[in-house]
Amino acid sequence: MTVFLDDLMLKKASLPPTSIVIFGGTGDLAETKLYPALLDLYVHGALPNQFRIIGISRKALSPEEYHEFVKKSLEKKISSYEQSVVAQFCQHIEYLAGDFGLASTYSELLSLLKEFDGEVMQCTNKLFYLAVPPQLYSGIFKYLDESGLMRTCDGVLSWARILVEKPFGRDLMTAEILEEELCSRFDEEQIYRIDHYLAKDSIENIIALRFANTILSDSWYNGQVESIAIRLLEKKDVANRGSFYDGVGALRDVGQNHVLQILALLTMTPSDISTVSAIRAARAEVLESLLPPTYVIKGQYKDFTKTIGVASDSLTETYFKIKTELSSSRWSGVPITLEAGKALDKNINEVVVTFRPQVNWQRETEPHVKDHRNVLTMQFSPEQRITLSVWVKKPGFTFALEERVLELIRSEAVDAYSPEAYERVLYDCIAGDQTRFVSGAEVMAAWKFITPLLQTDNIPLFSYEVGAQWSDSLN
Ligand code: BG6
Repeated sequence: MTVFLDDLMLKKASLPPTSIVIFGGTGDLAETKLYPALLDLYVHGALPNQFRIIGISRKALSPEEYHEFVKKSLEKKISSYEQSVVAQFCQHIEYLAGDFGLASTYSELLSLLKEFDGEVMQCTNKLFYLAVPPQLYSGIFKYLDESGLMRTCDGVLSWARILVEKPFGRDLMTAEILEEELCSRFDEEQIYRIDHYLAKDSIENIIALRFANTILSDSWYNGQVESIAIRLLEKKDVANRGSFYDGVGALRDVGQNHVLQILALLTMTPSDISTVSAIRAARAEVLESLLPPTYVIKGQYKDFTKTIGVASDSLTETYFKIKTELSSSRWSGVPITLEAGKALDKNINEVVVTFRPQVNWQRETEPHVKDHRNVLTMQFSPEQRITLSVWVKKPGFTFALEERVLELIRSEAVDAYSPEAYERVLYDCIAGDQTRFVSGAEVMAAWKFITPLLQTDNIPLFSYEVGAQWSDSLN
Protein backbone atom coordinates (compact mmCIF):
# COMPACT_ATOMS: atom_id res chain seq x y z
CA MET A 1 0.00 0.00 0.00
CA THR A 2 1.30 3.45 -0.87
CA VAL A 3 2.50 5.32 2.20
CA PHE A 4 1.76 9.03 2.51
CA LEU A 5 3.69 11.61 4.45
CA ASP A 6 1.13 11.84 7.25
CA ASP A 7 1.48 8.11 7.78
CA LEU A 8 5.22 8.43 8.04
CA MET A 9 4.98 11.32 10.48
CA LEU A 10 2.86 9.11 12.69
CA LYS A 11 5.29 6.25 12.40
CA LYS A 12 8.36 8.45 12.62
CA ALA A 13 8.88 8.01 16.34
CA SER A 14 9.22 4.28 15.76
CA LEU A 15 11.45 4.58 12.65
CA PRO A 16 14.79 2.96 13.43
CA PRO A 17 17.96 5.01 13.08
CA THR A 18 19.07 5.23 9.46
CA SER A 19 22.34 5.91 7.66
CA ILE A 20 22.12 7.55 4.25
CA VAL A 21 25.23 7.07 2.14
CA ILE A 22 25.62 9.20 -1.01
CA PHE A 23 28.12 7.93 -3.57
CA GLY A 24 28.95 11.03 -5.59
CA GLY A 25 28.65 13.20 -2.49
CA THR A 26 30.24 16.25 -4.17
CA GLY A 27 28.51 15.79 -7.51
CA ASP A 28 25.87 17.85 -9.26
CA LEU A 29 22.94 15.66 -8.19
CA ALA A 30 23.95 15.72 -4.52
CA GLU A 31 24.45 19.46 -4.67
CA THR A 32 21.35 20.52 -6.57
CA LYS A 33 18.79 17.88 -5.58
CA LEU A 34 19.74 15.51 -2.77
CA TYR A 35 20.93 17.86 -0.01
CA PRO A 36 18.09 20.34 -0.55
CA ALA A 37 15.63 17.39 -0.52
CA LEU A 38 17.15 15.95 2.67
CA LEU A 39 16.99 19.35 4.38
CA ASP A 40 13.33 19.71 3.44
CA LEU A 41 12.55 16.25 4.77
CA TYR A 42 14.44 17.07 7.96
CA VAL A 43 12.55 20.32 8.47
CA HIS A 44 9.21 18.61 7.84
CA GLY A 45 10.05 15.90 10.34
CA ALA A 46 10.03 13.19 7.68
CA LEU A 47 13.47 11.74 8.47
CA PRO A 48 13.98 9.27 11.31
CA ASN A 49 14.79 10.86 14.67
CA GLN A 50 18.30 9.47 14.54
CA PHE A 51 20.00 9.58 11.16
CA ARG A 52 23.43 10.09 9.66
CA ILE A 53 24.35 11.17 6.13
CA ILE A 54 27.72 10.15 4.72
CA GLY A 55 28.83 11.77 1.47
CA ILE A 56 31.57 9.91 -0.41
CA SER A 57 33.69 11.11 -3.29
CA ARG A 58 37.33 11.09 -4.40
CA LYS A 59 37.95 14.72 -3.46
CA ALA A 60 40.25 15.20 -0.49
CA LEU A 61 38.07 17.44 1.69
CA SER A 62 38.15 18.03 5.42
CA PRO A 63 34.85 17.63 7.32
CA GLU A 64 34.67 21.44 7.55
CA GLU A 65 35.19 21.83 3.80
CA TYR A 66 32.45 19.31 3.12
CA HIS A 67 30.05 21.12 5.44
CA GLU A 68 30.84 24.28 3.49
CA PHE A 69 29.99 22.47 0.24
CA VAL A 70 26.68 21.27 1.71
CA LYS A 71 25.81 24.68 3.12
CA LYS A 72 26.44 26.20 -0.30
CA SER A 73 24.15 23.66 -1.92
CA LEU A 74 21.48 24.65 0.60
CA GLU A 75 21.90 28.35 0.03
CA LYS A 76 18.74 28.60 -2.01
CA LYS A 77 16.80 27.10 0.86
CA ILE A 78 18.54 29.03 3.60
CA SER A 79 16.48 32.13 2.93
CA SER A 80 13.41 30.11 3.86
CA TYR A 81 15.01 28.20 6.75
CA GLU A 82 16.76 29.54 9.82
CA GLN A 83 20.55 29.29 9.65
CA SER A 84 20.41 27.47 12.98
CA VAL A 85 18.21 24.75 11.46
CA VAL A 86 20.69 24.30 8.62
CA ALA A 87 23.54 24.12 11.15
CA GLN A 88 21.67 21.45 13.14
CA PHE A 89 21.05 19.50 9.94
CA CYS A 90 24.74 19.67 9.02
CA GLN A 91 25.67 18.05 12.34
CA HIS A 92 24.24 14.82 10.92
CA ILE A 93 26.59 14.90 7.91
CA GLU A 94 29.98 13.24 7.55
CA TYR A 95 32.38 12.96 4.65
CA LEU A 96 34.52 10.10 3.42
CA ALA A 97 37.13 10.66 0.70
CA GLY A 98 37.66 7.49 -1.27
CA ASP A 99 37.95 5.82 -4.62
CA PHE A 100 34.80 3.81 -5.50
CA GLY A 101 37.01 1.23 -7.19
CA LEU A 102 39.01 0.33 -4.06
CA ALA A 103 37.97 -2.21 -1.43
CA SER A 104 39.55 -0.03 1.28
CA THR A 105 36.91 2.69 0.71
CA TYR A 106 34.19 0.21 1.60
CA SER A 107 36.03 -1.02 4.74
CA GLU A 108 36.30 2.60 5.90
CA LEU A 109 32.62 3.09 5.17
CA LEU A 110 31.79 -0.03 7.14
CA SER A 111 33.74 1.32 10.14
CA LEU A 112 31.88 4.65 9.96
CA LEU A 113 28.55 2.88 9.78
CA LYS A 114 29.49 0.62 12.70
CA GLU A 115 30.45 3.69 14.68
CA PHE A 116 26.93 5.04 14.23
CA ASP A 117 25.45 1.64 15.15
CA GLY A 118 27.56 1.78 18.32
CA GLU A 119 26.42 5.31 19.17
CA VAL A 120 22.76 4.46 18.93
CA MET A 121 23.31 0.94 20.29
CA GLN A 122 21.48 -0.87 17.53
CA CYS A 123 21.86 -2.08 13.99
CA THR A 124 20.82 0.89 11.84
CA ASN A 125 19.02 0.87 8.50
CA LYS A 126 21.27 1.65 5.56
CA LEU A 127 20.46 3.43 2.34
CA PHE A 128 23.06 3.65 -0.44
CA TYR A 129 22.36 6.29 -3.11
CA LEU A 130 24.32 5.92 -6.36
CA ALA A 131 24.52 9.54 -7.54
CA VAL A 132 27.40 8.71 -9.90
CA PRO A 133 27.87 8.20 -13.66
CA PRO A 134 26.38 4.85 -14.76
CA GLN A 135 29.75 3.42 -15.78
CA LEU A 136 30.63 3.26 -12.05
CA TYR A 137 27.53 1.25 -11.05
CA SER A 138 28.89 -2.20 -11.66
CA GLY A 139 32.00 -1.66 -9.49
CA ILE A 140 29.94 -0.19 -6.65
CA PHE A 141 27.45 -3.12 -6.77
CA LYS A 142 30.36 -5.53 -6.50
CA TYR A 143 32.03 -3.83 -3.53
CA LEU A 144 28.75 -3.17 -1.70
CA ASP A 145 28.03 -6.86 -2.01
CA GLU A 146 31.47 -8.25 -1.24
CA SER A 147 32.12 -5.89 1.67
CA GLY A 148 28.93 -7.12 3.34
CA LEU A 149 27.54 -3.56 3.52
CA MET A 150 24.22 -4.67 2.02
CA ARG A 151 23.75 -7.36 4.67
CA THR A 152 22.16 -6.12 7.84
CA CYS A 153 23.86 -6.91 11.10
CA ASP A 154 20.70 -8.17 12.78
CA GLY A 155 19.45 -10.28 9.88
CA VAL A 156 15.83 -9.29 9.47
CA LEU A 157 15.09 -6.42 11.84
CA SER A 158 16.71 -3.66 9.81
CA TRP A 159 17.23 -3.12 6.10
CA ALA A 160 19.89 -2.14 3.54
CA ARG A 161 18.65 -0.61 0.26
CA ILE A 162 20.27 0.68 -2.88
CA LEU A 163 18.98 3.59 -4.97
CA VAL A 164 20.08 3.50 -8.61
CA GLU A 165 19.74 6.56 -10.84
CA LYS A 166 18.81 6.49 -14.51
CA PRO A 167 20.02 5.96 -17.21
CA PHE A 168 19.93 2.27 -16.38
CA GLY A 169 22.24 0.96 -19.11
CA ARG A 170 22.78 2.37 -22.60
CA ASP A 171 20.49 0.03 -24.52
CA LEU A 172 18.66 -3.24 -24.08
CA MET A 173 21.80 -5.38 -23.99
CA THR A 174 23.74 -3.30 -21.45
CA ALA A 175 20.63 -2.89 -19.29
CA GLU A 176 20.14 -6.66 -19.24
CA ILE A 177 23.74 -7.19 -18.12
CA LEU A 178 23.39 -4.54 -15.40
CA GLU A 179 20.08 -5.96 -14.24
CA GLU A 180 21.48 -9.44 -14.01
CA GLU A 181 24.38 -8.21 -11.93
CA LEU A 182 22.13 -6.18 -9.63
CA CYS A 183 19.62 -8.97 -9.12
CA SER A 184 22.23 -11.67 -8.61
CA ARG A 185 23.75 -9.67 -5.76
CA PHE A 186 20.70 -8.15 -4.04
CA ASP A 187 17.03 -8.96 -3.42
CA GLU A 188 14.39 -7.06 -5.39
CA GLU A 189 13.10 -5.55 -2.10
CA GLN A 190 16.51 -3.91 -1.69
CA ILE A 191 16.59 -2.35 -5.18
CA TYR A 192 15.09 1.08 -5.92
CA ARG A 193 15.49 2.05 -9.62
CA ILE A 194 14.80 5.77 -9.86
CA ASP A 195 12.73 7.67 -12.39
CA HIS A 196 12.12 10.96 -10.62
CA TYR A 197 9.09 11.65 -12.87
CA LEU A 198 7.20 8.89 -11.08
CA ALA A 199 7.88 10.76 -7.84
CA LYS A 200 6.48 14.06 -9.09
CA ASP A 201 3.27 15.03 -7.37
CA SER A 202 1.95 16.65 -10.55
CA ILE A 203 2.50 13.48 -12.58
CA GLU A 204 1.01 11.25 -9.92
CA ASN A 205 -2.12 13.34 -10.36
CA ILE A 206 -2.68 11.39 -13.61
CA ILE A 207 -3.71 8.44 -11.45
CA ALA A 208 -6.10 10.52 -9.35
CA LEU A 209 -7.71 12.10 -12.40
CA ARG A 210 -8.11 8.81 -14.21
CA PHE A 211 -9.35 6.60 -11.42
CA ALA A 212 -11.22 8.97 -9.09
CA ASN A 213 -13.44 10.58 -11.75
CA THR A 214 -16.16 8.52 -13.39
CA ILE A 215 -16.47 10.89 -16.34
CA LEU A 216 -12.88 10.09 -17.23
CA SER A 217 -12.54 6.48 -16.10
CA ASP A 218 -15.57 5.42 -18.13
CA SER A 219 -14.31 6.98 -21.33
CA TRP A 220 -10.64 6.02 -20.96
CA TYR A 221 -10.27 3.56 -23.85
CA ASN A 222 -10.00 3.51 -27.62
CA GLY A 223 -13.78 3.70 -28.12
CA GLN A 224 -13.73 7.24 -26.72
CA VAL A 225 -10.13 8.42 -26.90
CA GLU A 226 -8.97 9.48 -30.33
CA SER A 227 -5.31 10.33 -29.67
CA ILE A 228 -2.71 10.90 -26.96
CA ALA A 229 0.26 13.27 -27.06
CA ILE A 230 3.03 13.59 -24.47
CA ARG A 231 5.45 16.52 -24.66
CA LEU A 232 8.52 17.36 -22.59
CA LEU A 233 9.76 20.55 -24.19
CA GLU A 234 12.57 22.51 -22.56
CA LYS A 235 13.93 25.97 -23.23
CA LYS A 236 17.23 25.19 -21.57
CA ASP A 237 20.03 23.66 -23.58
CA VAL A 238 22.45 21.06 -22.26
CA ALA A 239 24.41 23.80 -20.45
CA ASN A 240 27.40 22.36 -18.57
CA ARG A 241 26.32 18.73 -19.08
CA GLY A 242 27.84 18.51 -22.57
CA SER A 243 30.04 15.46 -22.06
CA PHE A 244 27.30 13.51 -20.25
CA TYR A 245 24.63 14.47 -22.76
CA ASP A 246 26.72 13.80 -25.86
CA GLY A 247 27.06 10.18 -24.80
CA VAL A 248 23.36 9.88 -24.04
CA GLY A 249 21.01 12.00 -26.20
CA ALA A 250 17.35 12.84 -25.74
CA LEU A 251 16.01 9.33 -26.37
CA ARG A 252 18.08 7.85 -23.54
CA ASP A 253 17.95 10.91 -21.31
CA VAL A 254 14.18 11.36 -21.13
CA GLY A 255 12.59 9.09 -23.77
CA GLN A 256 13.42 5.65 -22.36
CA ASN A 257 12.28 6.75 -18.92
CA HIS A 258 10.25 9.92 -18.19
CA VAL A 259 8.20 10.01 -21.41
CA LEU A 260 7.41 6.29 -21.41
CA GLN A 261 6.56 6.28 -17.71
CA ILE A 262 4.03 9.06 -18.26
CA LEU A 263 2.52 6.95 -21.04
CA ALA A 264 2.40 3.96 -18.70
CA LEU A 265 0.55 5.94 -16.01
CA LEU A 266 -1.85 7.26 -18.62
CA THR A 267 -2.78 3.90 -20.12
CA MET A 268 -2.17 1.25 -17.42
CA THR A 269 -5.00 -0.94 -16.12
CA PRO A 270 -3.92 -2.12 -12.66
CA SER A 271 -5.91 -4.96 -11.14
CA ASP A 272 -5.66 -3.13 -7.81
CA ILE A 273 -4.75 0.54 -7.62
CA SER A 274 -3.56 0.23 -4.03
CA THR A 275 -0.90 -2.45 -4.38
CA VAL A 276 2.66 -1.85 -5.42
CA SER A 277 3.02 -5.06 -7.40
CA ALA A 278 -0.22 -4.48 -9.34
CA ILE A 279 0.79 -0.95 -10.32
CA ARG A 280 4.29 -1.97 -11.38
CA ALA A 281 2.98 -4.93 -13.33
CA ALA A 282 0.38 -2.74 -15.07
CA ARG A 283 3.01 -0.17 -16.08
CA ALA A 284 5.23 -2.96 -17.44
CA GLU A 285 2.30 -4.40 -19.39
CA VAL A 286 1.75 -1.09 -21.16
CA LEU A 287 5.42 -0.77 -22.08
CA GLU A 288 5.51 -4.34 -23.34
CA SER A 289 2.54 -3.60 -25.60
CA LEU A 290 4.27 -0.72 -27.44
CA LEU A 291 4.33 -1.29 -31.18
CA PRO A 292 7.32 -0.25 -33.29
CA PRO A 293 6.92 3.44 -34.23
CA THR A 294 5.31 4.42 -37.48
CA TYR A 295 7.24 7.70 -37.55
CA VAL A 296 10.43 8.97 -35.89
CA ILE A 297 12.33 12.21 -36.30
CA LYS A 298 15.40 13.36 -34.47
CA GLY A 299 16.87 16.84 -34.29
CA GLN A 300 19.95 18.58 -32.98
CA TYR A 301 19.96 22.27 -32.12
CA LYS A 302 22.49 24.47 -33.91
CA ASP A 303 25.69 25.00 -31.95
CA PHE A 304 25.18 21.88 -29.84
CA THR A 305 28.52 20.67 -31.21
CA LYS A 306 30.19 23.84 -29.89
CA THR A 307 29.23 22.95 -26.31
CA ILE A 308 32.15 22.04 -24.02
CA GLY A 309 32.42 18.26 -23.84
CA VAL A 310 30.51 17.62 -27.08
CA ALA A 311 32.33 16.12 -30.09
CA SER A 312 32.52 18.53 -33.04
CA ASP A 313 30.99 15.88 -35.33
CA SER A 314 28.43 14.66 -32.78
CA LEU A 315 25.24 13.04 -34.14
CA THR A 316 23.56 13.03 -30.73
CA GLU A 317 19.90 14.05 -30.86
CA THR A 318 18.64 16.85 -28.63
CA TYR A 319 15.06 16.43 -29.86
CA PHE A 320 12.83 13.55 -30.93
CA LYS A 321 9.29 12.95 -32.00
CA ILE A 322 7.82 9.46 -32.24
CA LYS A 323 4.43 8.22 -33.36
CA THR A 324 3.36 4.84 -32.13
CA GLU A 325 0.46 2.74 -30.81
CA LEU A 326 -0.20 0.14 -28.15
CA SER A 327 -1.27 -3.34 -29.20
CA SER A 328 -3.68 -3.95 -26.29
CA SER A 329 -7.38 -4.31 -27.06
CA ARG A 330 -8.07 -1.30 -24.83
CA TRP A 331 -5.78 1.04 -26.76
CA SER A 332 -5.14 -0.37 -30.22
CA GLY A 333 -5.73 2.13 -33.00
CA VAL A 334 -5.12 5.21 -30.82
CA PRO A 335 -2.21 7.24 -32.25
CA ILE A 336 0.32 8.18 -29.57
CA THR A 337 2.82 10.98 -30.08
CA LEU A 338 5.88 11.16 -27.84
CA GLU A 339 8.03 14.25 -28.10
CA ALA A 340 10.88 15.83 -26.15
CA GLY A 341 13.63 18.31 -26.82
CA LYS A 342 16.02 20.92 -25.52
CA ALA A 343 16.73 24.51 -26.59
CA LEU A 344 13.18 25.01 -27.85
CA ASP A 345 10.99 28.08 -27.61
CA LYS A 346 9.05 27.00 -24.54
CA ASN A 347 9.07 24.99 -21.36
CA ILE A 348 6.11 22.68 -21.37
CA ASN A 349 5.60 19.27 -19.85
CA GLU A 350 2.16 18.12 -20.76
CA VAL A 351 -0.18 15.40 -21.86
CA VAL A 352 -3.01 16.04 -24.30
CA VAL A 353 -5.82 13.50 -24.57
CA THR A 354 -8.23 14.17 -27.43
CA PHE A 355 -11.61 12.45 -27.30
CA ARG A 356 -13.54 11.27 -30.32
CA PRO A 357 -16.05 13.75 -31.78
CA GLN A 358 -19.68 13.64 -30.76
CA VAL A 359 -21.26 12.03 -33.82
CA ASN A 360 -24.88 12.61 -32.83
CA TRP A 361 -24.70 16.37 -32.84
CA GLN A 362 -26.67 17.99 -35.67
CA ARG A 363 -23.81 19.40 -37.63
CA GLU A 364 -26.01 21.09 -40.23
CA THR A 365 -26.65 23.88 -37.70
CA GLU A 366 -22.96 24.69 -37.82
CA PRO A 367 -21.48 23.83 -41.18
CA HIS A 368 -18.34 25.84 -40.38
CA VAL A 369 -17.43 23.75 -37.30
CA LYS A 370 -16.05 20.41 -38.35
CA ASP A 371 -16.16 18.28 -35.21
CA HIS A 372 -16.92 18.66 -31.54
CA ARG A 373 -14.10 17.10 -29.64
CA ASN A 374 -13.33 17.31 -25.96
CA VAL A 375 -9.68 17.82 -25.22
CA LEU A 376 -8.14 17.15 -21.82
CA THR A 377 -4.76 18.76 -21.20
CA MET A 378 -2.68 18.01 -18.13
CA GLN A 379 0.22 20.39 -17.88
CA PHE A 380 2.80 19.39 -15.26
CA SER A 381 5.12 22.34 -15.62
CA PRO A 382 5.85 25.22 -15.66
CA GLU A 383 2.44 25.33 -14.03
CA GLN A 384 0.22 22.52 -12.82
CA ARG A 385 -2.79 23.20 -14.97
CA ILE A 386 -5.60 20.91 -16.06
CA THR A 387 -7.95 22.05 -18.79
CA LEU A 388 -10.91 20.38 -20.41
CA SER A 389 -12.46 21.88 -23.49
CA VAL A 390 -16.22 21.45 -23.65
CA TRP A 391 -18.91 22.51 -26.10
CA VAL A 392 -21.69 24.80 -24.90
CA LYS A 393 -24.52 26.66 -26.53
CA LYS A 394 -23.56 29.99 -27.98
CA PRO A 395 -25.97 32.64 -26.65
CA GLY A 396 -28.45 33.70 -29.33
CA PHE A 397 -31.36 32.57 -31.50
CA THR A 398 -29.54 29.70 -33.18
CA PHE A 399 -28.33 26.49 -31.62
CA ALA A 400 -24.76 27.07 -32.56
CA LEU A 401 -22.08 25.74 -30.22
CA GLU A 402 -18.90 27.28 -28.97
CA GLU A 403 -15.87 25.70 -27.38
CA ARG A 404 -15.12 26.80 -23.80
CA VAL A 405 -12.37 25.66 -21.52
CA LEU A 406 -12.74 24.51 -17.92
CA GLU A 407 -9.50 25.24 -16.14
CA LEU A 408 -7.94 24.20 -12.86
CA ILE A 409 -4.65 25.77 -11.87
CA ARG A 410 -3.46 23.45 -9.18
CA SER A 411 -0.87 25.69 -7.54
CA GLU A 412 -3.65 28.16 -6.72
CA ALA A 413 -5.74 25.50 -5.06
CA VAL A 414 -3.06 23.77 -3.03
CA ASP A 415 -1.08 25.40 -0.27
CA ALA A 416 -0.18 22.22 1.59
CA TYR A 417 3.38 20.89 1.75
CA SER A 418 4.06 19.38 -1.64
CA PRO A 419 7.32 17.43 -1.55
CA GLU A 420 9.72 17.76 -4.47
CA ALA A 421 10.41 14.65 -6.54
CA TYR A 422 13.73 13.89 -4.82
CA GLU A 423 12.18 14.27 -1.37
CA ARG A 424 9.63 11.70 -2.41
CA VAL A 425 12.35 9.39 -3.79
CA LEU A 426 14.33 9.46 -0.52
CA TYR A 427 11.26 9.37 1.65
CA ASP A 428 9.70 6.40 -0.15
CA CYS A 429 12.95 4.45 -0.04
CA ILE A 430 13.18 4.98 3.73
CA ALA A 431 9.50 4.04 4.07
CA GLY A 432 10.06 0.92 1.93
CA ASP A 433 7.48 1.85 -0.71
CA GLN A 434 8.54 0.79 -4.23
CA THR A 435 5.44 2.10 -6.04
CA ARG A 436 7.22 5.10 -7.53
CA PHE A 437 10.28 3.11 -8.56
CA VAL A 438 10.72 1.21 -11.78
CA SER A 439 10.80 -2.57 -11.92
CA GLY A 440 13.33 -4.51 -14.00
CA ALA A 441 10.52 -5.55 -16.35
CA GLU A 442 9.61 -1.90 -17.01
CA VAL A 443 13.23 -0.94 -17.70
CA MET A 444 13.64 -3.79 -20.19
CA ALA A 445 10.35 -3.15 -22.00
CA ALA A 446 11.24 0.54 -22.37
CA TRP A 447 14.67 -0.34 -23.79
CA LYS A 448 13.12 -2.85 -26.20
CA PHE A 449 11.14 0.02 -27.70
CA ILE A 450 13.91 2.65 -27.66
CA THR A 451 16.99 0.62 -28.63
CA PRO A 452 16.13 0.24 -32.36
CA LEU A 453 15.75 4.04 -32.57
CA LEU A 454 19.27 4.71 -31.34
CA GLN A 455 20.93 3.92 -34.66
CA THR A 456 21.41 7.39 -36.06
CA ASP A 457 22.22 6.17 -39.57
CA ASN A 458 18.67 4.78 -39.94
CA ILE A 459 16.97 7.99 -38.91
CA PRO A 460 18.14 11.33 -40.34
CA LEU A 461 19.08 14.06 -37.92
CA PHE A 462 17.81 17.52 -38.79
CA SER A 463 19.21 20.72 -37.42
CA TYR A 464 17.06 23.35 -35.69
CA GLU A 465 17.62 26.86 -34.42
CA VAL A 466 17.95 27.46 -30.69
CA GLY A 467 14.51 28.60 -29.54
CA ALA A 468 12.78 26.91 -32.47
CA GLN A 469 9.02 26.84 -32.34
CA TRP A 470 8.41 23.16 -31.90
CA SER A 471 4.98 23.23 -33.44
CA ASP A 472 6.04 24.91 -36.65
CA SER A 473 9.51 23.99 -37.63
CA LEU A 474 9.82 20.55 -36.08
CA ASN A 475 6.77 18.81 -37.43
C1 BG6 B 1 16.50 14.65 -16.26
C2 BG6 B 1 17.27 14.80 -17.55
O1 BG6 B 1 16.32 13.29 -15.96
O2 BG6 B 1 15.24 15.26 -16.40
C3 BG6 B 1 17.40 16.27 -17.91
O3 BG6 B 1 18.56 14.24 -17.39
C4 BG6 B 1 16.03 16.92 -17.96
O4 BG6 B 1 18.05 16.44 -19.16
C5 BG6 B 1 15.32 16.66 -16.65
O5 BG6 B 1 16.21 18.32 -18.15
C6 BG6 B 1 13.90 17.19 -16.65
O6 BG6 B 1 13.41 17.02 -15.35
P1 BG6 B 1 12.56 18.13 -14.64
O7 BG6 B 1 12.29 17.57 -13.27
O8 BG6 B 1 13.39 19.38 -14.62
O9 BG6 B 1 11.32 18.27 -15.48
